[in-house]
Amino acid sequence: MLKRAACVGTSVTSVFDSPYFIAGALLWAFAGAVAYFWLVSFLFGAGYQGAPRKSVDAAFRLGQVDRTDTLYEIGAGVGAIVFPAAREYGARVVAVEIEPLRVMILRLRRATGPAKDRIELRRTNMYGIDYRPATVVTAFLWPGAMARLRPKFEQELQPGARVLSRCHPIIGWRPAAYDPDADVYLYRCPESIHLPESAARS
Ligand SMILES: C[S@@+](CC[C@H](N)C(=O)[O-])C[C@H]1O[C@@H](n2cnc3c(N)ncnc32)[C@H](O)[C@@H]1O
Repeated sequence: MLKRAACVGTSVTSVFDSPYFIAGALLWAFAGAVAYFWLVSFLFGAGYQGAPRKSVDAAFRLGQVDRTDTLYEIGAGVGAIVFPAAREYGARVVAVEIEPLRVMILRLRRATGPAKDRIELRRTNMYGIDYRPATVVTAFLWPGAMARLRPKFEQELQPGARVLSRCHPIIGWRPAAYDPDADVYLYRCPESIHLPESAARS
């Protein structure tokens, strides 16, 4: 009996030790992480896609982002815009992200690099924050989000503030500039807003 138990114990151990089991487990863990990042995060309002570096630089050039700016990066993801803005362009950055795993990655990246004091991380909902301190807002979101944010921007953004939106225009506003290669829209307040409906870009 004892001999049999020992035998079963050995075979169970050897299954766990097998390279196939380990490789399979790693593969499942990886697939789970990818599924979470891409799918489960829709529960928080959006999936994830990072902005390519080329379009980040193009956006900053278009908006003339520099060290005098307070840049609100809304839906900050894992920081494709946050870290270059603070570390290379010298802006003070407020990074707003709702999804916990991405917030953890942002915290880790902030802690392990320069310019910590210029980066504020907020795990919160971008629809509930006050945009009045922002001189620049960067957004790589989706059309419904831009439409929902528009009245808030109209109420809270100060004269001189700019909005840089990747891929999605703000319907009803007129862009001050558009970079077709990077697919980035630049809006200036108040010139881009308060249009007669007929003049508004649709
Ligand atoms: C398309 S990704 C863009 C990531 C980043 N801006 C970039 O360019 O690399 C959109 C991000 O918005 C975040 N998000 C979605 N709804 C949000 C909300 N209500 N408040 C804050 N962040 C939100 C998502 O979790 C996701 O990380």
